[in-house]
Amino acid sequence: MSDDKVFLITGASTGIGAETAREAVKAGYKVALAARSVGKLAALVDELGGKETALAISCDVTSVDDQKRMVSETLAQFGRIDVVFANAGIGATAMGTEQGDPGNWRDMILTNVYGLVLTAKVTLPHLKKSKGHILLTGSRAGRIALKGSVYGATKWAVTGYGQNLREEVAGTGIRVTLIEPGMVDTPFFDERKPHALKAIDVANAVMYAASQPPHVDVAEVLVIPTPQAEG
Ligand SMILES: NC(=O)c1ccc[n+]([C@@H]2O[C@H](COP(=O)([O-])OP(=O)(O)OC[C@H]3O[C@@H](n4cnc5c(N)ncnc54)[C@H](OP(=O)(O)O)[C@@H]3O)[C@@H](O)[C@H]2O)c1
Repeated sequence: MSDDKVFLITGASTGIGAETAREAVKAGYKVALAARSVGKLAALVDELGGKETALAISCDVTSVDDQKRMVSETLAQFGRIDVVFANAGIGATAMGTEQGDPGNWRDMILTNVYGLVLTAKVTLPHLKKSKGHILLTGSRAGRIALKGSVYGATKWAVTGYGQNLREEVAGTGIRVTLIEPGMVDTPFFDERKPHALKAIDVANAVMYAASQPPHVDVAEVLVIPTPQAEG
């Protein structure tokens, strides 16, 4: 194994994933960046210092084959995987059950739940070797009741799966962290959210968890914007 630690991120093309990639490189990691928008990933690789430091991987997380290739390309380039940030996710196109769109529900469940679980499945053998760390992007929406929210239900699934995964890997040295942001101002929304968290705030939470010593598993990080004063 090479000595350089490797940080693999899904949903790395924009928002929280891209910002975490920047922070991971600052912290000395090599980064493997997976998403569907290869043009954005290529620009980020350039920004982060080129192929010595960063690798762009075309990957739709809903595809098992894409995720297997994501791992093999990462290993071919960097030789190991130390930290995995399963972060790819999409939101609802319409709110609630009556108004919601079943096609969008399917996409959300496949991306936010099935895709995230696949990321864990394909990376666990390599995290066992490195005694590594997997972080899952859940949400505050996976901790509270939101009227009719299927998106929230996908994030409740992430909360539950993260806890179950921690039980599964107990004794292997692998750490499991749930990252649970409140609203973040990212391309997740069509309009800007000036009072929300910034992507860097969530990236800082990820790096806090990832930088703890091996005996410390930061189990969950719930990070929300400070409530604004009324009026
Ligand atoms: N923004 C918020 O308020 C907020 C709050 C709590 C949790 N979250 C969660 O945070 C995570 C990141 O979201 P964000 O706010 O940073 O939004 P974002 O900027 O829209 O980022 C979403 C990322 O997921 C990727 N992605 C979506 N579908 C994918 C697929 N099928 N395969 C591979 N990659 C896919 C996107 O890349 P491509 O389109 O290029 O594939 C993009 O890189 C998501 O899981 C989201 O649910 C967001």
